Amino acid sequence: MPLNKSNILIAGGAGFIGSALIEHIVARYPSYVIICFDCLSYCSQLKNIEPYLSDNVIFVKGDITNKIALKSALVNYDINVVINLAANTHVDLSLEIPFDFTNVNVIGTQVILECLRERSVDLYLHMSTDEVYGDSYCNTSNAPLEPTNPYSASKAAADMFVHAYMKSFNLPAIFMRTNNVYGPRQFPEKLIPKTIMSLLRGSKVPLHGSGLNQRRYIHCTDLATAIDLILHNGQIASVYNIGSETELSNIDVCRTIIKAMPSLSEQKLEDLIEFTKDRPYNDSRYFMNSSLIESLGWKPHVSFESGLADTIAWYEANSSDWWGPITEYALQAFPRYPSSLLHQNKI
Ligand SMILES: NC(=O)c1ccc[n+]([C@@H]2O[C@H](COP(=O)([O-])OP(=O)(O)OC[C@H]3O[C@@H](n4cnc5c(N)ncnc54)[C@H](O)[C@@H]3O)[C@@H](O)[C@H]2O)c1
Repeated sequence: MPLNKSNILIAGGAGFIGSALIEHIVARYPSYVIICFDCLSYCSQLKNIEPYLSDNVIFVKGDITNKIALKSALVNYDINVVINLAANTHVDLSLEIPFDFTNVNVIGTQVILECLRERSVDLYLHMSTDEVYGDSYCNTSNAPLEPTNPYSASKAAADMFVHAYMKSFNLPAIFMRTNNVYGPRQFPEKLIPKTIMSLLRGSKVPLHGSGLNQRRYIHCTDLATAIDLILHNGQIASVYNIGSETELSNIDVCRTIIKAMPSLSEQKLEDLIEFTKDRPYNDSRYFMNSSLIESLGWKPHVSFESGLADTIAWYEANSSDWWGPITEYALQAFPRYPSSLLHQNKI
């Protein structure tokens, strides 16, 4: 769809994927107006997007569960495209505080949809995840949703609401379901930054269960390119799986990172890793057919080796004080955050 006018509201734009997307859009489409609408939850930092802020790229501190705040942003900035990346995103935390995930991921999405019912836009891009399919082989984008934990269940429930608003209220929506994403600025509760930061600090990497569960990885710049293609050429009502051929077991991710850090390459794996209890249910793998996004001309360009080298370099240079005291908790096997830190930026 050619975009005549582009005033894009990116909910959750100050997070990991959001900041990569803003970096991409600013470089490619400097005339677009971007409103980054984000509550700066425990894992997020304004400095993720500070270098890109300008007259055209504006940060609005707001919560997607607050309809008044969201509607004002849509009206005040004359928004015609909404990209929803705002979510609680960590599976392990969803096992601890599942209602928080329902509140942000499901209710928050429905609040956005209600706002768009009252003030329509040309396009709503909804970020979902490969995890909504569970660990079944997903041959098509229409495969059944079989989530296995509160995080993926909340994402699947949000997808259902988007689908319902498309059918009942003609919402012009597109779904995006991506494999695991990695790169700079990812909060260290996720496997790759947790591994890098633990090793940089001389701590053992906590690894769930056998470490043999497989995950597929996309560099955040390749994901930003995929979102760009969908934003400009995606078909309304389609589901775009954004998948990668780079599949590694969690233990192989650790091995690869250790190999890429010269000071550690002589050390034995068992001295650097600590096996912990597993998740109550740990999806064995995610395998999606991505032919629809490939038909738009997308394929990933960043090899895992080079993406990882850049990512390690970023954490070496920046990570020691990027997130502050909450980092200690994020690096645990199953992070539990003190309420004061979890809600430190609450509006
Ligand atoms: N990172 C991955 O590997 C991955 C894979 C598949 C799908 N996704 C999806 O991509 C999206 C972005 O993920 P991410 O990795 O950037 O996560 P992230 O946790 O880094 O960023 C989420 C952002 O949402 C914001 N946010 C949270 N609650 C909010 C609320 N109530 N109101 C406004 N903003 C709020 C946070 O402050 C943060 O900036 C999520 O929908 C996630 O489910 C991520």
